[in-house]
Amino acid sequence: MGFTPDFLDEIRSRLAVSDVIGRRVKLIRKGREHSGLCPFHNEKTPSFTVNDDKAFYKCFGCGASGDIFKFVVETEGLNFPEAVERLAGQAGLALPDYTPEDKKRSTLRKSLYDVMEAATKWFEAQLVSQTGLEAMEYLTRRGLSRNTIKKFRLGFSPEGHTSLKEALTSKDGMTEDMLIEAGLLIKLEDEGDGQKPSYDRFRYRLMFPITDRQGRVVAFGGRALNSNAKAKYLNSPETPLFHKGSLLYNLANARKPSFDKGRVIVAEGYMDVIAMAQAGFENAVAPLGTAVTEEQIGELWKLAQEPLMCFDGDKAGALAAHRVAERALPLLKEGYSLRFVHLPTGEDPDSYIRGHGAKAFLDMLEQGQPLMDILWNMKTESVKIDTPEQRAGLELTLSETLLEIRNKNIRGHYDENYQKRLASLFGRTYVADHSLVNSVSERQYKKNHFEYSQKPYGKKNNHRRDETYLGVKDLKNSDIFKGKNLGALKRERLLILTVMNHPWLLKEHHEVFATTDFESAELDKLRNEIIDVSNRESNLERESLYNHLLKIGFGKALEVILKQGDLKAEWFAWPDAARPDVVRGWFHVVNRHRRVSDIQRDIRASEKELAENMTEEVFTRFCALKAELEKAKGDEASIDGYGIASGRDKLS
Ligand code: UTP
Ligand code: MN
Repeated sequence: MGFTPDFLDEIRSRLAVSDVIGRRVKLIRKGREHSGLCPFHNEKTPSFTVNDDKAFYKCFGCGASGDIFKFVVETEGLNFPEAVERLAGQAGLALPDYTPEDKKRSTLRKSLYDVMEAATKWFEAQLVSQTGLEAMEYLTRRGLSRNTIKKFRLGFSPEGHTSLKEALTSKDGMTEDMLIEAGLLIKLEDEGDGQKPSYDRFRYRLMFPITDRQGRVVAFGGRALNSNAKAKYLNSPETPLFHKGSLLYNLANARKPSFDKGRVIVAEGYMDVIAMAQAGFENAVAPLGTAVTEEQIGELWKLAQEPLMCFDGDKAGALAAHRVAERALPLLKEGYSLRFVHLPTGEDPDSYIRGHGAKAFLDMLEQGQPLMDILWNMKTESVKIDTPEQRAGLELTLSETLLEIRNKNIRGHYDENYQKRLASLFGRTYVADHSLVNSVSERQYKKNHFEYSQKPYGKKNNHRRDETYLGVKDLKNSDIFKGKNLGALKRERLLILTVMNHPWLLKEHHEVFATTDFESAELDKLRNEIIDVSNRESNLERESLYNHLLKIGFGKALEVILKQGDLKAEWFAWPDAARPDVVRGWFHVVNRHRRVSDIQRDIRASEKELAENMTEEVFTRFCALKAELEKAKGDEASIDGYGIASGRDKLS
């Protein structure tokens, strides 16, 4: 979404700064200005000044200053476009549509939101009807109050294969295609034996609506009520509205309480989050059936500096804790970390609260352990240290772990702490500055990582290693791509590669592929050619597509796409991947790509504005966008984090 200066001005002119700020800070009027206690630092006498004429606030104590957008960004934990959306709503303005593509995209989204909302209402109605009796009894047995059920908008999807389909398609404007696109219906490819009708994805399940940051329903989690069901929880697939790696369950409700308390609790399950909220812990969220991703860690850090991981007291919970601990290391920054709460074996937050009460649970939270301790335990638990080799082995493991911490200051502190612990473990005296990270471990670390990224097929299939393999440096220098943004290139290559290996994607998601902006002119051409071919040939096969593209001179572009080892790890793009994984992985990249280009568009608009109107506010906004872009780019290191969280599929 790009916002024009005019639109932002329109919002500013409709909302007095003192009104926006007055919702959070008690302001006293003084002539043309208002003043109050600064929300950005601790003070006893007011030095925070708000000027409605200048549409500006400034604190003479700590120097904080800005406009309404910045204020909302800083106090609500929203990003810039979200702040604009929020304030536009308060000002009674609809978000504008810019280019025809933007417009098309946003109407598509809007209609899918309508579908999701209608589905939510329908599931809610089923739960309180005669059909939902059993489901309702189940919820009551699990201790949920009517209020909680309403607040989380829980619902029920009945048995039968087309109940939802029939209910919604009988409504105006909701087509079968939209329901498929929204992930509510499943349509299998017909394999020559005639059309297979689409059917409800969720059947005989308790429905948990999953909302986005603004509280709009974008997906569902469905819990089986039947103990024979294959999966205990079934989630919506990746759709244009839903990108599970960057959302958290209950984020919309938990955001403000978390931000205000400076504490956010992360549980594994939906039921945990709901039980916590019912017990008064409204600052709780959960990942969406996957391991916690880097993006989610970033999201959590907007709410609190040390998010509390409160996972189940079982093996899977410990594994989840280990994974998030490892994942956080490269992201650590001054002041920001994670804490871990240990629940007794067999308990999860839901059962613990029911069994021991809210007060006992709060005590558990207070005892959350720092990341540094968890990591130490992980690495030293059940490691033998009887022989010199074993001891050196442990030292190497620890130093490799430390090397994962990119922030040198933080790494230094971990290093010092671990040296002390090692000294006492080995029964020797601690000698300062005998750093665990040394040239040997660094070399070993690089070797491991280098080999890992260079051997796309793994050791077993070494013979398949590509002789003409190009390194990333070669890619940068290749005349096709010279001087281009590598992150964007990688995504664009990945999008094309996936479509080339899975041309069937174009049948359903033609529109998405056609309307995603490409930075690389070469890849853009290639994409357009693929679209043309697919328009001409309805049953496009992988081989014939490749051959066609080679014939008309895209050989070089294809070579660079294919020979890059960096895409080998993205398994969903390759021919063997299962269809649902392909769709999920591909949408994940599409969404990420769009997010980055959205921000870039905002930046271009902001640059233009800056050239015309160089004020502090415009400049601040420009800086905020730049920072957001860096963040979005930083997030792109991995395209993982989806898949099933654990092998647990027993019903409890
Ligand atoms: P749990 O099995 O711990 O779920 O899985 P829970 O919330 O405690 O469920 P109840 O209390 O038995 O109803 C934790 C989370 O892992 C995901 C879901 O997001 C779930 O909330 N999950 C679990 C799946 O996505 N699929 C599964 O088959 C199981
Ligand atoms: Mn659980």
